[in-house]
Parts: sequence; structure tokens; C-alpha cells
Amino acid sequence: MGARIIGSGSFLPEKCVTNSDLEQIVNTSDEWIVRRTGIRTRHLLEDGQDPAVMGTAAAKQACEDARISAESIGLFIVATNFPDMICPGSSPFIASELGLDQTPFFDLKAGCSGFVYGMAVADGLIRAGLYQRILLVGSEALSRVTDWSDRKTCVLFGDGAGAVVLETGRTDEGVLGSAIFGDNDKALLLHMPAGGTRTPADDATLQQGGHFLKMEGAGVYRSAVPMMERATREALAAASLGLDDVDWLIPHQANIRIIDSLAVRLKVSKDKIITNLDRVANTSTASIPIAFDEARRDGRIKNGDVIVMTAFGAGVTYGAVVVRI
Ligand code: UT7
Repeated sequence: MGARIIGSGSFLPEKCVTNSDLEQIVNTSDEWIVRRTGIRTRHLLEDGQDPAVMGTAAAKQACEDARISAESIGLFIVATNFPDMICPGSSPFIASELGLDQTPFFDLKAGCSGFVYGMAVADGLIRAGLYQRILLVGSEALSRVTDWSDRKTCVLFGDGAGAVVLETGRTDEGVLGSAIFGDNDKALLLHMPAGGTRTPADDATLQQGGHFLKMEGAGVYRSAVPMMERATREALAAASLGLDDVDWLIPHQANIRIIDSLAVRLKVSKDKIITNLDRVANTSTASIPIAFDEARRDGRIKNGDVIVMTAFGAGVTYGAVVVRI
């Protein structure tokens, strides 16, 4: 008995920043950003706004959608890379807002693949019979770790959260197969140098901007397409399905050129691919659950559809999960 999705939710902060707004703060152009990434706008937290509002809102919406009370959740997982606090993370703060008084919780850190990893972990725990109902949130406040003077990264990211409620289901629905991978040789392609235990924050790290996200964009780009292709094929094999069986592909929303190349390699037509990065940019662990929730709510995703969610990210991690809705 695998895990089926019984509800979903998502949240984007109100503040919407356009490419033209970014032209005012770094040497960039709307034309460059659209041509190289496909991104037009992103939603960002206001200064001082509590990041937990995002995961809380998405989780509440998912529970309402599933018509369940939050107290019925057996386990709560938050996939995030930049938690509210390095210790104790994000999950306890969101759990408190949700009134999950006795529910166990933990943060899951697996780069932008965190939501896909979380789906695989939740499915495993449900299959093992350890939990009947799990709430999985992907939430990311990337604006808080972005160097707003670095044009190579600041145009790429957005804030947001998405959530799903997973419950024990029949074998022919829910998670049908998954495949997760890691490539630790590439750990520094995307990283935050300071603020961890290797290089604790001090005046010097602050001066050097060690508390900001650093990325070797071209290196990440080169790895992303073959990694998501491999993960998609292996997750489908685990589900005993082929690409012809797939109704929707939801790739991590990092760059439209990466998504287009993936479509070509998999020979999946573009009208089967769900994208929203033009509006929301790269929201890391939140990107897949936000895109999934939007497409469910607007009626594109229907009951019975087979969906592949695939991602890659810092670590480097990558993976895919095949789900029948
Ligand atoms: O969630 C996973 C995390 N990240 C990603 O998935 C990102 C993956 N990588 C990418 O999406 C792309 O590599 C980028 C969008 C980050 C960059 O695109 P690119 O086509 O690989 O450009 P590039 O880094 O090779 O830079 C090309 C030029 C450079 O100028 P020179 O050296 O050729 O004169 C950059 O300085 O574009 C310049 N550039 C910009 N110009 C205007 C870089 N960023 C900007 C910018 N505006 N924002």
C-alpha cells in the first residue's frame, strides 16, 4: 500500500518583483533574464515578514483541500534548505502555527530535490506501515540568502511554499515508483560558504558575503538535464510504466531552457509539461508542489492522471517520483 495525495496547497507572498524592478538594482535587463531563463516575475517576502507564514498557509490549504484536521497528521516533514533557524529548523515553527501539538516533525535538506526526496521518504514510511497520514511541505525563503548585488543569482530566485497530504492508498494509485540519487563530487556548485559549523559566521564572513548563496550556474545547468532524464526514466521503470503513460511532467522550475532540453531528450511534448517559472521563478523545494497545486486547482490535472515530478539541486541531489492522482 503506497502513499496517495489527498490534498494540496500553495502560497506565494504578495510582493511581486518584475525584471524591470531588478534592472534598477543590478546591471541586467528584462531581455537577458527572459531569454536566458524564461523568468518574468517572482514573489518575495517583505522585510521582516515571518517565513513560517508561507509553509503554514500552504499546509492549511492542503489540509482543507483533503478535508482533514491537522491533528490527524501522523508525521510532518518540511523540505527546506534555508530554514527559519539553522537550529531547530523550520518544521517546529510551522507545526506550532498548525496546532500540531503531539505530531513528530523534521526538516529535510536535499537541495532543490527536497520535495521529491520527501515524497520518496513519505511513501516509504507509509508503505512500511509506520504512518497512515503524512503532511509534506516544501518552503523556501530564498530572498533572505540572496546577494542582491550579484546579478548572476539574484534574478533567478523567488519565495514560496507548497504542500501535500499523503495517506495510505491502494497499490494502483498514489506513488507508483520513485528514484533518488546523489553526486557528492559537485557539492560546491551551489552552496552557502559560511554560517555552518565548518566556517561559523563572524565579522570576516559577513564582510565577504559568506552568508549568501553562491552558484556556479553553468556547472549546475550542464548536470541538470541528464540527471532529470535519468531520474525520470528510472522512476518510470520502478513504476513499470513508460513515457507514453505520462499525462504530466512537472520538472523543478529553474530555467525554461533546462526544461525545454529535458522535453527534447525525453521526447515529451511541451503541452504535457507544467511550468510556472515565468511568474514565480525558482522557489527551490517549493517549486514542484506549487506548480502541482496550481495545475490541480485550475483543472489541468485530473483524477487518474499519471504525473512525473523530477528535480535536481544542491548536493548535488536529483530524483523523480511517479504519482497517479
Ligand atoms: O535550482 C537549481 C539551482 N540553479 C539552477 O538551476 C541554475 C542553472 N543555471 C542556469 O540556469 C544558467 O546557467 C544561468 C541562468 C544561471 C546563467 O545562464 P548562462 O547562459 O549559463 O549564462 P552564463 O553564466 O554563461 O553568463 C553569460 C553572460 C556572462 O557575461 P560574459 O562573461 O559572457 O560577458 C554573465 O556575466 O551573461 C552574464 N550575465 C548576465 N547578464 C545580464 C549573468 N547574469 C546576468 C544577468 N543579466 N542577470
